[in-house]
Amino acid sequence: MKKDLYQLYEARKAKKHATLILPDGQKLEMPMYSPALGPDVIDISSLKKVDLFTYDPGFVATASCSSGVTYIDGDRGELLYRGYPIEELAKKATFLQTCYLLYHGEMPTPAQFKTFKHTVTRHTMVTERVVDFIKGFDTGAHPMAVMIAVIGALAAFYHEWIDVKDQASRNESALRLVAKVPTIAAMSYKYSIGQPVMYPQNNYGFAENFLHMMFATPCEPYKSDKVLIDALNRIFILHADHEQNASTSTVRLAGSTNANPFACISAGIASLWGPAHGGANEAVLKMLEEIGEVENIPEYIKGVKAGVAGKRLMGFGHRVYKNFDPRANVMRDTCHQVLKHLKLHNDKTFKIALELERIALEDEYFIKRKLYPNVDFYSGIVLRAIGIPTSMFTAIFAISRTIGWVTHWNEQHKDPEFRIGRPRQLYVGDKRRKLTSTKR
Ligand code: ACO
Repeated sequence: MKKDLYQLYEARKAKKHATLILPDGQKLEMPMYSPALGPDVIDISSLKKVDLFTYDPGFVATASCSSGVTYIDGDRGELLYRGYPIEELAKKATFLQTCYLLYHGEMPTPAQFKTFKHTVTRHTMVTERVVDFIKGFDTGAHPMAVMIAVIGALAAFYHEWIDVKDQASRNESALRLVAKVPTIAAMSYKYSIGQPVMYPQNNYGFAENFLHMMFATPCEPYKSDKVLIDALNRIFILHADHEQNASTSTVRLAGSTNANPFACISAGIASLWGPAHGGANEAVLKMLEEIGEVENIPEYIKGVKAGVAGKRLMGFGHRVYKNFDPRANVMRDTCHQVLKHLKLHNDKTFKIALELERIALEDEYFIKRKLYPNVDFYSGIVLRAIGIPTSMFTAIFAISRTIGWVTHWNEQHKDPEFRIGRPRQLYVGDKRRKLTSTKR
């Protein structure tokens, strides 16, 4: 039996049961599964036999699937990709090695990596029709709006790789997406500033190629800075996957209908765009700019605590991490390195960020609610130092997360329990009523 199937089979061997006693005294036995890591899970699917549902807005206590990709322990601040701690991967691996690990489940051998890298780089180009398509958008369009449309439309250009039931076809479209999303993101940016698009350079690594497509022009040679390449590589690794977050769950829900991979990833990008999710790093920078001066921080925090117009401290808080976000620690160090290297450590925005973090971490409001900086509190500052415009921040998150999305989408299609996702509801609308004639 394959490793992933075996692990699912092992986890599903119920050794314990939970008993639910209904108001009429009826007892319902529910199997409890023990995951490889983390708390036990109660299988509530037998509720449908007695015509009952569970109610859990925001899926706070609901596992929507089984998965062997990523594990998060929110209390311990732990994030593992296929069992490897994020801190180690950020230090020792490249983004493409991390992509291989996520997709295939193991670190690649040198030969496997060579083939994988060759396949990804061979797919970085897009057909010129895609470039024409991008030119149809308004120059002021947000890159995420362009990406949602263009990536969804890839199904119209790469029809031959959308047989979702075929493993080879899934692999091909997954790697095409990892390779082409950065090209499309950089092209959207170049178009928005009126510069010619820069074609990918396949002799560069993943992060270096992206910097080239963003910042090079046909007029002069461009060489990326090693410290900035490393920082971007780390940003890509830290954002590569994060269990069943909103955008990944969106991809899975779309995937559960057997929709094509380009449509599923486009749905994921749309979900990521929201400021409560991937749009947070853009929102952090806007917030720091709005604060403007270190002296204005206490007043700003006062507004957040008072809930003025739903104001939140952007880059703070997380649904799962209730102690610290391990990605934020790596990002904070990277932030110091980059700003020091670029001699920007006196940068006003960074000083405001550090002071804001210090004040918030000592404030009873944030302590009580277990609100700590998340990865996006620092990633925006690093991206800005690299020279990435704020409007591209979420696009960079989408580039990183594409590997996570395609990995989950592929895992879902291999799952023996694959079925369409269809949540139920607690209906609170009108009861059945009669329609009086509306014809006039
Ligand atoms: N600033 C101020 N108060 C906050 C914040 C914040 N950033 N986050 C949560 N709270 C407060 C809420 O007002 C609530 O207070 P209450 O109990 O008095 O009503 C309490 O903390 C719990 O908040 P919820 O919204 O229930 O927490 P949830 O887990 O649903 O939300 C989320 C998590 C969306 C990340 C939230 O913390 C938030 O909006 N943060 C800011 C946006 C952000 O940084 N998002 C990036 C997430 S990481 C990522 O996508 C890579």
